[in-house]
Amino acid sequence: MKLKSLILAAGKGTRMKSELPKVIHKVNGVPMIKKIIDILDELKVQENILILGHKKEEILDVIGNVSYVVQNEQLGTGHAIMMAEPKLKDFQGNILVVCGDTPLLKVETLKKMYEFHMKSRATTTLLTSIYENPFGYGRIVKENGKIVSIIEEKEASEQEKKIQEINAGVYCFNSKELWETLKKIDNKNEKGEYYLTDIISIQVKENKNVETYLLEDNLEVLGINSKVELAQANIILRERKNNNLMEDGVILIDPNNTYIEENVKIGRDTVIYPGALIQGKTTIGENCTILGNTRIIDCEIGNSIKIESSVLEESILDDFVTIGPFAHLRPKTHLKEKVHVGNFVEVKKSTLEKGVKVGHLTYLGDAIIGENTNIGAGTITCNYDGKNKFKTIIGKDSFIGSNTMLVAPIKIEDCGMTAAGSVITKDVPSKSLAVARSKQIIKLNWRKD
Ligand code: UD1
Ligand code: CA
Repeated sequence: MKLKSLILAAGKGTRMKSELPKVIHKVNGVPMIKKIIDILDELKVQENILILGHKKEEILDVIGNVSYVVQNEQLGTGHAIMMAEPKLKDFQGNILVVCGDTPLLKVETLKKMYEFHMKSRATTTLLTSIYENPFGYGRIVKENGKIVSIIEEKEASEQEKKIQEINAGVYCFNSKELWETLKKIDNKNEKGEYYLTDIISIQVKENKNVETYLLEDNLEVLGINSKVELAQANIILRERKNNNLMEDGVILIDPNNTYIEENVKIGRDTVIYPGALIQGKTTIGENCTILGNTRIIDCEIGNSIKIESSVLEESILDDFVTIGPFAHLRPKTHLKEKVHVGNFVEVKKSTLEKGVKVGHLTYLGDAIIGENTNIGAGTITCNYDGKNKFKTIIGKDSFIGSNTMLVAPIKIEDCGMTAAGSVITKDVPSKSLAVARSKQIIKLNWRKD
């Protein structure tokens, strides 16, 4: 496929009213520009070239390694494309132009449009759609069913404003003809900008074959210019993602109130309750139950796991783990098979081996806990002395009494025990009980009332 793409992303996005460049605002968890690059990669174009300008460093920080050209002054969409001429003037093929602010496009649509462009041997093909309220979009002016020009909102007459067929901002250009025509556009219009859309009327006048490809689903070409449109795009993408998951066998109790970001993967028969927020690169296995008020980000979750009302960040959970309610797993936590982390427990950068139970009111940080050990309610690893962090290591089959303070660095060997209320500052040998608290005194008949 002799096809390269240009992605327009140099504009200021003034209507977004934001410090962030428009194209890195997220749609269902993914920066819109990234979403578009993903779509074009799926289409297998030979090369994606971005046109960057306004806050380009911030955009590059988000998307990493890409080819790009710079438009220093934002003098319009036509001017933006001119910036790519030195890079593409010798390219013999077609150039697909997409705006960085239309992240709802589907790869099938681009494929069909490209095939149509090739079949009709067009010089230029552009994607159009019908909007009941077309305000803001360029209108498609046709004579005898054939496009003759695109009129922007600002220049449109009352009559033209009524036209409901709009320019989606997606074009397939014959490369050589594109560079020829671009030389002929000017900025004599209301905005004083070089409009890419002026190419159409010039090529039509030169009797070139300009085609339109009508897209039925107008939601796909929604251009995001404001935060209201950003919210609309979020809703649409979320619905698509939820539908895909359900088609693959995931059970969503109330899809309208379930928030699962684009790159999340979930296995069959896993049930997600309303109010769950599942983000980033999270993967969840089969037969899990995720109850409401749970936020999971960048986690690797196995099969048959139950999570209730908890926050999980960058953690790994092996099969049959149960979490919550009201637990917090912080980064680099690994819970092995059948571990239970219960009410008001926080775990950070720790590994809990198979079958460990931490039921209530506990903080475990920088710890390794051996198989089947039970951590009593209120246990705290004192891992920080104000300057440095230290490790707590507990062997297998140990029993940590309620309200134990484990002052790290500390080691409890296999089958070790601590008495409730102890402040443990010395290592505990295997099978021993450590008691570190003041003895109980009884004062008989103490009360005088
Ligand atoms: C544009 C089209 C309009 C179409 C609509 C579809 C023109 C003149 N108008 O209008 O016909 O209906 O898209 O969504 O093309 N950009 C640059 N450099 C610039 C100006 C813009 O790179 O100098 C980029 C922007 O970052 C954005 C894209 O081009 O990603 C479109 O610009 P925008 O200002 O949103 O154009 P619209 O007014 O929406
Ligand atoms: Ca736009």
